[in-house]
Amino acid sequence: MKMLHDNLGVNEKGHLTIAGVDTVVLAKEHGTPLIVFDENKLRENCRIYKESMARHFGENSLALYAGKAFCCKEMYRIAADEGVGADVVSGGELYTAVSAGFPTDRVFFHGNNKTDAEIAYAIDNRIGYFVVDNREELDAIQAIAHKKGIVQKIILRATPGIDPHTHAKISTGKVDSKFGTAVETGQIEALTDYALELENIDLKGYHCHIGSQVFDIDPFCDAADIMLDFIAKMREHKGFEASVLNLGGGFGVRYVQSDPEIDYDKNIGEISEHVKSKCSSLNLKMPAVLMEPGRSIVADAALTLYTAGSVKTITGYKSYVSIDGGMTDNPRYALYQSEYTVYCANKMNETPDFKCTVAGRCCESGDLIQENVLLPSPKRGDIIAVLVTGAYNYSMASNYNRVTRPEVVSVKDGKAKVIIKRETYEHMTALDV
Ligand code: LLP
Repeated sequence: MKMLHDNLGVNEKGHLTIAGVDTVVLAKEHGTPLIVFDENKLRENCRIYKESMARHFGENSLALYAGKAFCCKEMYRIAADEGVGADVVSGGELYTAVSAGFPTDRVFFHGNNKTDAEIAYAIDNRIGYFVVDNREELDAIQAIAHKKGIVQKIILRATPGIDPHTHAKISTGKVDSKFGTAVETGQIEALTDYALELENIDLKGYHCHIGSQVFDIDPFCDAADIMLDFIAKMREHKGFEASVLNLGGGFGVRYVQSDPEIDYDKNIGEISEHVKSKCSSLNLKMPAVLMEPGRSIVADAALTLYTAGSVKTITGYKSYVSIDGGMTDNPRYALYQSEYTVYCANKMNETPDFKCTVAGRCCESGDLIQENVLLPSPKRGDIIAVLVTGAYNYSMASNYNRVTRPEVVSVKDGKAKVIIKRETYEHMTALDV
């Protein structure tokens, strides 16, 4: 059986394994739903970016792990250990990074609506850079930096006007976007003028992010062209030469066999060749290039295990297999009709010939994990595995229907350790008065 990713396998009992560990045993020992991360894979994914960016873009480049994909202290410890930076989008993500001892000078604070309290908290924690979304925010950062007597490094978030051909809800670089300030309308130029005048602001460069789950590299190259043309224009018109260009995140990940294989090093190499030749044609000094991978660091490092409950066939229609989780731990099918590979982890050698919809347990018809799945005659008590759930699953989890959030473990050298405890009813009601 050809597995989707090289850290998955099937053992002599016919059970699915991740990093060589039997998932059925994990489900028995830890309970379900259970998210299982392969620590070596997480580290390997960080290293691919770090090494590849250093090789192609030079030593002053930096990969920033986008914590929105999966955020917990252990993840920041791993990212710190592997020498990548971090993209945080809220006080909560920053707090998690700080609590994990993450070096804050490698933190970039994103978001289209940072509150004054978050700005002050980030400055107090000496974060490296703010990625400034708009003029009002710049005013707020200037005022708070002034009050605290510091000069704050920033980059400006530009919307380059690129359509990356991904799901509309995860496309962000178009001119009509709630994120950033547009290049096309001239507003980013006006914001540059303004930033350069502010006493407590040190403008270093620009950021753009076109969208997520993008397989093609052309949109990244197109965005880089627009940004570099703009940087050249700022040099000519204002004598300002940006030293930082952050190209955002967004590389796609294989969720199903029909998704293309992706060679991240090759992609980074091609984008760097493009950027280098564009810089030389504009006679620009190559800026420090940053990228912000989230999904491609964590997605394929994890899977989710559930226990099957009711198996129901509606005569003449279809069959449903219900699991003990669903949109509360993985809302991605409900939101984006995302594709997933689903297995019966305890019956990997049996023929998957029962076509069904795998449904969650919420009071919501849209609470589905996947439709048209083939499983080997599923029964109550079987362990259902959903692959590639490391990104935007736990981080988007909710307590809808007062369902508790799953436990998260990481496996390494044959052993599992808990990295996020299972939520209990007591945790869930702790804030109720
Ligand atoms: N940088 C910025 C400014 C971003 O907005 C994002 C993702 C990233 C980096 C990381 O992108 P990645 O490498 O993970 O594609 N919940 C959606 C994805 C939303 C992405 C939001 N921004 C999903 O489940 O598909």
